[in-house]
Amino acid sequence: MQKKKLMIHDFMKMKQEGQKIAWLTSYDFPTAQFAEAAGMEMILVGDSLGMCVYGYAGTLPVTMEQCILHCEAVRRGAPNTFVVGDMPLGSYQVSDADAVFNAIRFLKEASVDAVKLEGGTRVVSRIRAIVDAGVLVIGHIGLTPQSSGQLGGHKAQGRTMESAKLVIEDALAVQKAGAQMLLVEAVPPEVTGLIAKKLSIPVLSIGAGADCDGQLLIVSDLIGQFTAFTPKFVKKYAHVAEIITEAMRQYVKEVKAGQFPTDEHCYHMLEGEAERLQKLLAS
Ligand code: KIV
Repeated sequence: MQKKKLMIHDFMKMKQEGQKIAWLTSYDFPTAQFAEAAGMEMILVGDSLGMCVYGYAGTLPVTMEQCILHCEAVRRGAPNTFVVGDMPLGSYQVSDADAVFNAIRFLKEASVDAVKLEGGTRVVSRIRAIVDAGVLVIGHIGLTPQSSGQLGGHKAQGRTMESAKLVIEDALAVQKAGAQMLLVEAVPPEVTGLIAKKLSIPVLSIGAGADCDGQLLIVSDLIGQFTAFTPKFVKKYAHVAEIITEAMRQYVKEVKAGQFPTDEHCYHMLEGEAERLQKLLAS
């Protein structure tokens, strides 16, 4: 049976009813298919694709073109899942007009359902402009990797009273600007809990505890494919890097030993054709 695609009003209802939302990143067609089959309610085509797919050290080099291409592939793999396009660095920082132009590209070219952008009080005019253009926006506060330089690195935010107050101000500003959901990254659960209670929109966490309306994880972490480092908040549900490497090691071994391919992996000539060929070559 075809999965029912959940939309923004369904997520609002889930918050009101205390049902948790399951959200995962995905960057390609097969993983999106797996996510949809697994019952994922939302997919984020995150700019984390810079690290997870392209091998960059961080997300900063990721371009609009890369994000759009990966969103297109994910949309094809998960036609019945709420897909969120992540606005990369440079696509919304310069002006409201740029932000609206690029947000609309995500919808027109890749059929996403919403866009996500990083920042709180400092991006309210961007959020307002995109929402006014008719595009659903998900805010992203706390640890915001695109501005991690200003934050002093990839560090948890809101661990002191002063810092927590700033995170809460950001959350309120994002909701007031018209965002339909909020993602909180690497913030203490005590602070996330307060935000989730204060806000009427769904509040989701990545590394920000369970006391909110849902969770996001990076697929490459969840399946154990990304091995460069593992943040504290990650739970690995599988170890595919080991499985894939072992399968490839076995293939190398069998090729070298002449054990692959065997007869079962070959296309034989049609009945009588080998004899005809031999005769032709002999004549
Ligand atoms: O790009 C991404 O996957 C993200 C998460 C780290 C929240 O923005």
